[in-house]
Amino acid sequence: MPLPKEVRLVEVGPRDGLQNEAQPISVADKVRLVDDLTEAGLAYIEVGSFVSPKWVPQMAGSAEVFAGIQQRPGVTYAALAPNLRGFEDALAAGVKEVAVFAAASEAFSQRNINCSISDSLKRFEPIMEAARNHGVRVRGYVSCVLGCPYEGKVSAEQVAPVARALHDMGCYEVSLGDTIGTGTAGDTRRLFEVVSALVPREQLAGHFHDTYGQALANVYASLLEGINVFDSSVAGLGGCPYAKGATGNIATEDVVYLLQGLGIATGIDLDRLIAAGQRISSVLGRGNGSRVARARSAQ
Ligand code: HMG
Ligand code: MG
Repeated sequence: MPLPKEVRLVEVGPRDGLQNEAQPISVADKVRLVDDLTEAGLAYIEVGSFVSPKWVPQMAGSAEVFAGIQQRPGVTYAALAPNLRGFEDALAAGVKEVAVFAAASEAFSQRNINCSISDSLKRFEPIMEAARNHGVRVRGYVSCVLGCPYEGKVSAEQVAPVARALHDMGCYEVSLGDTIGTGTAGDTRRLFEVVSALVPREQLAGHFHDTYGQALANVYASLLEGINVFDSSVAGLGGCPYAKGATGNIATEDVVYLLQGLGIATGIDLDRLIAAGQRISSVLGRGNGSRVARARSAQ
């Protein structure tokens, strides 16, 4: 399949990146991160989560973050909603797009959202209905698409029906998440081959954590499969609280660098993006997880 001319990046750093942080991060620092990302040209930013604060304490201030950010027209500012309560809280905070999240493995579904895969899909139905009534777009996630921290290997055949269910209930796009970053390029190609029999490729996205250093290769493998939407995290922030040892998503800077080299447009200003990543890394008191940012900053 020819490579796409354009790729859309979904910046998940403020949500997937920060949700796992044990240290307190102020609302002001989160707002600054989102504003920096807007300035860098990201067209889609996942700002926070309306989940139980007992489960993910770091996302508790998401409504305040939404209230503080400068929203630029044409940019999507989204949030996760695991249930109707989360959706209603998101709506009250002025959120115009939400994401629901299911898993391809039963054990991860239980640990992450405290219910079975099929119960989670039922729980999303009222969200979809409320979203339709309020003109809110809903994106879907499937976690553990290439491996599960509790069940081990996950087959593409386990992923496909969950992706289809999300698509059929009205998710305009389904992002396939390698939550623990164990997948390799061959498995990634097969995943998209199998899932695209049930959900059109144009409505699929790739979400690769970089735990095993495979994420960039998996993005390239996905491009070869005709996928042109990827989730990534500035400075490679993050991990998942319910997937021990999982590192952050692929760094947005590294994906932008890859795409620039391939002549694929993203609309993102790499220098500004690197500056955004440097700032949040210093707030967190740790090294930047982007190889490109580290190389550029050393020059
Ligand atoms: P539960 O305990 O089964 O829910 O949790 P419940 O309905 O029995 O409620 C329990 C308590 O939570 C109650 O409070 C509710 O009011 C409250 P209490 O009476 O005990 O004081 N509650 C809420 N509070 C705030 N907002 C809400 C909400 N709902 C209930 N929306 C639940 C079920 C889904 C709520 C819980 O398991 C949860 O919040 N899970 C979130 C887990 C999460 O955020 N994980 C990380 C995101 S997923 C991810 O990172 C993967 C992804 O990046 C893709 C990939 O990498 O694969 C997307
Ligand atoms: Mg993730």
